[in-house]
This record gives sequence, structure tokens and C-alpha cells, in this order.
Amino acid sequence: MSAHLDHFGLRSEPFSKEIDDAKLWLPTSKQDIVDELVACVHDRKHAVVTGEPGVGKTCVLRALRSALSASQSFRLTYCHNVTLGRRDFYRHLCHCLGITYGATAGDVFLSLSKHVEELTRERTLPVLLIDEAHMLHQDTLDHLHILLNYSWDSRSLLSLIMIGLPDLDERLTKRRNRSLYSRLHHRLTIDPLSPSDTGDYVRARLTTAGANKELFTSDAIGILHEAASGSLRDIDRVADKALRLSARKKRKLVERDAVQAVLRTDGLGAP
Ligand SMILES: Nc1ncnc2c1ncn2[C@@H]1O[C@H](COP(=O)(O)OP(=O)(O)OP(=O)(O)O)[C@@H](O)[C@H]1O
Ligand SMILES: [Mg+2]
Repeated sequence: MSAHLDHFGLRSEPFSKEIDDAKLWLPTSKQDIVDELVACVHDRKHAVVTGEPGVGKTCVLRALRSALSASQSFRLTYCHNVTLGRRDFYRHLCHCLGITYGATAGDVFLSLSKHVEELTRERTLPVLLIDEAHMLHQDTLDHLHILLNYSWDSRSLLSLIMIGLPDLDERLTKRRNRSLYSRLHHRLTIDPLSPSDTGDYVRARLTTAGANKELFTSDAIGILHEAASGSLRDIDRVADKALRLSARKKRKLVERDAVQAVLRTDGLGAP
């Protein structure tokens, strides 16, 4: 076991990105978003979710996957390789769905429509999750609303959830994309963490790793919060380094000076 885990009596790395879906930290603010997305797919509607880098967008999708895992009614397809042209995007989508497709863009689209209709007959709703959607090519974006437009636009054969940086909202509200945007019924924002969220998050991750007492002082959390500006990924990185540094110094707690020392070399800047 690593020395810092041993030193603080932890069973596993507390700030690793390898976290089970079932162990994700879900405060009310995040649980509300997951609940709204669950309602969205049950209603066969579409959603857009935006937030700054590292606020936990992809983890919210993982929590959604976990929330829907007990139901046979949904087939989730996660797509994050979106910097592709329209035809390659559809091919990638077919590949994710495990269906064979022809050579032309028309063939690919046809295979996709047939597959979606087959799923409908089996009473399974495909849910297409497009992560990093702010990077979609415009010609793919132009086509997406066609995917949502089956049977003379009278039925939804799939539920589309687009996730990305705030630029995604900016792109969708542009005149050219209004047709797609108007079909996105749920428009959600994941906010950066508040100061008390940061404390709760650090505590929750440490508890999951086996801590049975506070390991970060409130001063240390305050500085961590200020430097990370509500990004969970930044918190993870700095908290992990501060934990290791404090273990090397044989400290019982992670204190303000340990976080400051990490920040001096981290690039976020020490407050
Ligand atoms: N709900 C959560 N529970 C536990 N850890 C989380 C949670 N959300 C985020 N994290 C931690 O923060 C890291 C970043 O989260 P995530 O990848 O979801 O952010 P993101 O908003 O998708 O970032 P990006 O904009 O760069 O894609 C994760 O790897 C994980 O360690
Ligand atoms: Mg992400």
C-alpha cells in the first residue's frame, strides 16, 4: 500500500478518477440534475447540460447510467468522439450501437433509422449521450435535429442528451441551430462548487476511501476552494498532492501550509 494511504489509515486512493458509479458524490444540486435527466428520458425528451471544465458533467452522466441501470427500457449509447465530420459521426454512432452500415452517408443514416425503429418495436428507447458536444462539427449539428424528427416529427424514437462546456449553449442559441435548440426541452447547468460543497466533497471522498475522521483542516479546505474555483478535477489534483506531502512530513492533518506549498508549484497559484 502507498505510504500516504498507510499514514492516514486509508484503504484506497481518495481522489482517484476511478470511482464506482454507485459511490459518486451526489449532493442535492447534482441529484436534482440526475433526477431531471431521468424524467427527461422517461418522457422521451431531449436535454442539454453545460458547465465549466471539471465541475462533474461526465460524472453526472455516470450517475444517470447508474440510475437507469435497473430498467430494461433504455439503451444508453455514450459518444464522446465528436470531432468527426457528419458521415464519420454516424459511422461512429453505428459502431457504438453495434450495427453494420453501408458506405454512403445515406446508407449509414438508413441503418441507424432501421435500428432505432427495431428498438422501438422491442419497447426499448435508445438514449444518445453526446459528451464534449461543444466540439461537434457544424454539419453534424445541422443533422442532429433530423435524428429527432421521425414520423413527420410526431414521435421521439430516441432521447438525446448533449453535454459540454458553456460554449455549447452559445452555439445552440445561434440562429442556425435554433431548430435543434428548440427541441431540447431540458436545459441544465452544472454550477461550480460552493465553499461548503468543497468541504463536503473532500470529506465524502475521504470517507469512501476509509477515513473515519476529518483529515483536512477548515483553513486548508478554504484555500483549496479558492484556488480550484469549484472544479472537482482541480480539487482532486491539489488535495491528492497535499495529502502526500503531509504524509511525507508525518503530519496528522493536512493543513493550510501543505495546500499552499502544492499550489506554489501547481500552476493554479497560491491565494
Ligand atoms: N459526483 C462526483 N463524485 C465523485 N467524484 C466526482 C464527481 N464529479 C466529479 N468528480 C471528480 O472530478 C473529476 C472531474 O469530473 P468530470 O470528468 O465529470 O468533469 P467534467 O465536467 O466532465 O469535465 P470536462 O469539462 O473536462 O469534461 C472526476 O474524474 C472525478 O474524480
Ligand atoms: Mg467531461
